Amino acid sequence: MSAGERSDAISVLTHLRAVRSLSDEPVADDALDAILEVARWSGSSQNEQEWQLVVLRDRETLRRLSQASPSAGHLAGAPLAIAIVMPGQRKILEAFDEGRMVERIMLAANACGLAAGMAWVSSDKAAAREALGLPADRSVRTVVTIGHPAGGGRRPGAGPHGTRRRLEETVHHERWGRREDPR
Ligand SMILES: Cc1cc2nc3c(=O)[nH]c(=O)nc-3n(C[C@H](O)[C@H](O)[C@H](O)COP(=O)(O)O)c2cc1C
Repeated sequence: MSAGERSDAISVLTHLRAVRSLSDEPVADDALDAILEVARWSGSSQNEQEWQLVVLRDRETLRRLSQASPSAGHLAGAPLAIAIVMPGQRKILEAFDEGRMVERIMLAANACGLAAGMAWVSSDKAAAREALGLPADRSVRTVVTIGHPAGGGRRPGAGPHGTRRRLEETVHHERWGRREDPR
């Protein structure tokens, strides 16, 4: 890999942002297929792949889900979303697997030239379950929204600096509290 290729690949990762404002433009079928294929290959604890994915395009379902949490309002305006459904039994393992799945879906959307965001719909779990028609042995927490960013901007609000703590505030070397980089 050349230095330029590496720089481009790293830039994709550092610029990945949660985009909540999406246009009405539909997501192409081949993009959705590619995103789902990436999702299928997500890693999980002991490769158990406990997830099921519900693809959502219906406005009314998205509107109902958007009301399941104060932080989920943007679901109502998304042309497409994917709800990640888990058994809801082994909470820590499942949350980790689910987080990996979300990140991969967002990266796959980005690779398709799309934007993505997410919302937890667990404030009103019953409403979210009802909207999706889940059976008693399944649970939903995260819904990933996918589409074209509204307003023409590739990634509104994008910018890797200023929206994160500096490395010096985050990284320790060898021992807790040792901030000095030995290199
Ligand atoms: C566990 C988790 C839950 C989140 N829940 C929501 C949510 O309910 N609604 C929302 O708009 N964004 C949600 N987000 C997205 C974060 O707000 C977002 O990643 C964070 O503000 C950083 O923004 P950026 O990724 O655009 O840089 C969630 C992110 C994580 C990791």
